[in-house]
This record gives sequence, structure tokens and C-alpha cells, in this order.
Amino acid sequence: MLSDSGCLGDDPLGVVNIAVIGGAGYVGLTYAAAFAELGHNVVGLDLDAERIGALRRGVTPIFEPGLDELLHRGLEGGRLRFTTEYADAVPEADFVFVCVGTPADAGGRAETSYIMSAARGVAQHSRGHTIVVNKSTMPIGSVERVSEILAEHAAHGVSFAVVSNPEFLREGSAIHDVLHPDRVVLGGADLDAVARVAALYRPLGAPIVVTSSRSAEMIKYASNAFLATKISFINEVATICEGLNADVIEVARGMGLDGRIGPRHLAPGVGFGGSCFPKDVRALAAMARDAGLPVTMLDAVLDVNASMGARVVAKLAARLGGLEGKRIAVLGLAFKPETDDVREAPAIDVIGRLEAAGASVRATDPVATRTAAAVLPNLECVPDAYAAATGADAVVLMTEWEVYRTLNLDRMANAMRGRFVLDGRNALDPTAVAAAGLAYEGMGRATTPANVVTTGLATQADEFDVVHDAVAAAD
Ligand code: UGA
Repeated sequence: MLSDSGCLGDDPLGVVNIAVIGGAGYVGLTYAAAFAELGHNVVGLDLDAERIGALRRGVTPIFEPGLDELLHRGLEGGRLRFTTEYADAVPEADFVFVCVGTPADAGGRAETSYIMSAARGVAQHSRGHTIVVNKSTMPIGSVERVSEILAEHAAHGVSFAVVSNPEFLREGSAIHDVLHPDRVVLGGADLDAVARVAALYRPLGAPIVVTSSRSAEMIKYASNAFLATKISFINEVATICEGLNADVIEVARGMGLDGRIGPRHLAPGVGFGGSCFPKDVRALAAMARDAGLPVTMLDAVLDVNASMGARVVAKLAARLGGLEGKRIAVLGLAFKPETDDVREAPAIDVIGRLEAAGASVRATDPVATRTAAAVLPNLECVPDAYAAATGADAVVLMTEWEVYRTLNLDRMANAMRGRFVLDGRNALDPTAVAAAGLAYEGMGRATTPANVVTTGLATQADEFDVVHDAVAAAD
């Protein structure tokens, strides 16, 4: 690992030309906008003409806080533009970032056809020497595979170096994560190319970890798998806490302040969703199996997560005496707050189960009702929590949007016909819910009030940090 005092990437790079393939997607667009913000000339390339048209007009196709502003600054400053043509983006590029999707195939493996066609496009349109940066989450061995394709399709006199540089951004805080990374991982055998990519990131001041290309690719999968493991672990502990009348919020806090464990990604709830954790854990397990290697923990992580939807529905059924004919208000559809992404969202799974059990669902989300409607076209969506709660037997909170943490609980209670609130993210204050005359249940909370000393604690991972930082400062 090279820290700020190391020499890798210390040579000033000046302004460079960057092409981002998959530049209209989540990762690609975020990096394109961020590199333009750092002063480079960036072209976002994407075959999705509709999205590229919107981006040229300054319209972001995804909901991501802060992205609009960066996009506008890049477009207005002339440092950021968009195209659908390799011939327009690649020939002048010093660096080509490959940010295309790697969707799962039927066996859970990461599909690499978009990567390979991107590599062919780059090979055919490059001039001189180009550094290709593999940014998407790619199977182990992809740097080698991309290098082969580039060599196979390159014109005479053209050369390439390929560097793995996995991304660690979270949806909802993508801009912050890109501009303030915990670390930058670079993997590749061509150390000149690695040093050039390191220089791109030098202004961010993050530690730079240089590894083999395969290790870099593995760091991405192992990091996501580990974070998913923390979540499934605390969700299993939550279930045990419930059975033994301990309180998982107190337990997670007490565990997380141990520096070896850490407080982040230790918030119990309804399980992890999104386009990354479920897919990447499955893909890592599939790669291991394909190599004849044993897989135990990864399967357990997925099993615990897959059981969460049934747990939520069982809690509702137990409180309501069955679900047939019951009306349930679902607060939150996105897989996490600050995004409109509903891919593998726990809410989508729970709604399917509720409807299968004969309940009718009325759902709401600050931004994700449109994306949810694409997956569940018959879902009744309403503008806010109070409309969702109207006439409901129970309310279940599935995504911890800030607006749900600060609900007017009396207003919600008056709108409901039943009295039950299931807090799937432990985001509400149980005392305040009870004060509104409602019955509260969370995930892994003690059922006997005497066993809960700290009620209403914030459980969001980043808020654990605040607690952690405060304790660290006091030390
Ligand atoms: C995740 C990783 O956190 C990023 O580092 C990585 O770059 C990204 O995947 C990716 O591979 O592209 P993301 O899926 O956007 O990012 O969101 P997270 O904040 O990690 O949340 C994932 C899921 O876990 C959400 O459903 C969230 O509600 C859940 N979660 C998270 C918990 O249930 N408990 C927690 O303590 C934290």
C-alpha cells in the first residue's frame, strides 16, 4: 500500500482526456461527472441513445443526490459531454474507464458480454497508447480477458495497458463516496499504467492499494461479501435477541464500538437488497463452485437474507391474526433511502408475499413509486405515508427515509383502522409510537420494556459512526 508519502502517482498528471463507457449508467455517470469536476475532459459513452439525449440536455436518468449539480457544472464548463459513438469518444482518450453492467446469468455468474463488446469497441477505435481501466465489478481474471480481446482486435501500432480499479460507491451517497474514498484499489502488472491511474486519484488524498489484477478484482467481491455478511450476521443475532428478549440495537451498539468489529453496516432490519450485494455474493459463490472450491459462509449469508421477507410477513400475520382480507400500508419501496432503485428491494419481496397471503397493499415512497410500478404494475401507490395508512390494519416501514423517521404519528394513527406498526428498519422511536396509541414492533427488539434501556436509538450505519466518533473523541 502506498500512502500519501509514497511516490506512486506523485507526478502531476495535468488535464487528461477520459472516456467512460457505460457513461449513462449509475457508476459510469457518477465517475464521468466526478472526473469532470476534478478538471479533466470527459466523454460519457453509452449505447442507450435516450439516456444520452437526456444527459446532453442536463437531465440525469437516475436519482442520486448531488449528481444534477455536478452534471450541470461539467456540461456548462465544457469539460463533460456525451456520445453514443466509440469513434467519437475513444480515439482521443488517454484513459478509457469501462463501467458497463455485469448482470447475473441464470447460474448467478456475472455476465461479461457487455465488457467484451466494450473491449472490442475500444480496440477498434484507439490510437496510440490507451490505458483501459476496469471499473465495473468483473469476475476474477477479467483484466487478462480484456487484455486478450484488446490485443486481438487492435489496429497496427496501437497499444494498451489494462488496470483493475474497482468502485466502492454506495447508491444514495455516490458522489461523496467517489470524491472521498476510503481507499483506491489498483491492480495490474503494468506499473507505469498503474502509476498514471494513481495520479488521477492523487487529488483525493486517499490511500492507494496496489495489487495484482486478480487480487484487485477479488477485493471488490470480498468487500461486498463481507459487508453483506455483517448485515446477515446482525439480522440473525436480531432474531436470537427477539427469542431471548435482548435488544439488538443495544447489542449492535455495544459490539460496534469494538474497533475490531466496527459500527458500520451493522444495522439490523429487513435484509440487504440493491444491485450489488445479492448479485456479488451469488457471483463470488458461483466462481468458487466453478473452481471446485467449498462455499459455506456465502450461502449462509444469502439464506439469512432470503428468509427476511418471510419473517416480516410472519410478524404481520401473527399480530393481525392472519393476512386474508387485511390492508397493509408499506412505507418505502427503494432498497435503501436516497435512491429510486428497487432492484432486489426487500419491499418488493414483502409486497409479493403479502398479496399472495390475501392482503391488499397500499404503498408509498418519496421517489421510487415509478420504478416500483415497472416491477409491480398493479401495486397501488399513494403520495405519502398518511394516505398509505388510511384504513390500514397495519403499517410496515421497509425503507428508512428521513421523512418516515419524523412522521406525525398521531395523524397516522388517526388515519389507520388497525393499531399495529412494524418497524422493519428500527427507525422509529418505540416510545413515540406507543404514545400515539399504536402497538410497536421492530426487528430484534426486546419485547419486555424493562429489557430496553435505550429506546429510539438511531440505527442507520452512518449514525452509528457519530456515536463511534463521539466515543473516540472522548477517549
Ligand atoms: C454497496 C456497497 O456498500 C458499496 O461499497 C459498493 O460499491 C456497492 O454496493 C457496489 O458494489 O456497487 P449499495 O448497494 O449502494 O452499496 O448500498 P449499501 O449502503 O451498502 O446498502 C445495501 C443494502 O444493505 C441496502 O438494502 C441496505 O438497506 C442494507 N443495509 C445496509 C442494512 O440492512 N444494514 C446496514 O447496516 C447497511
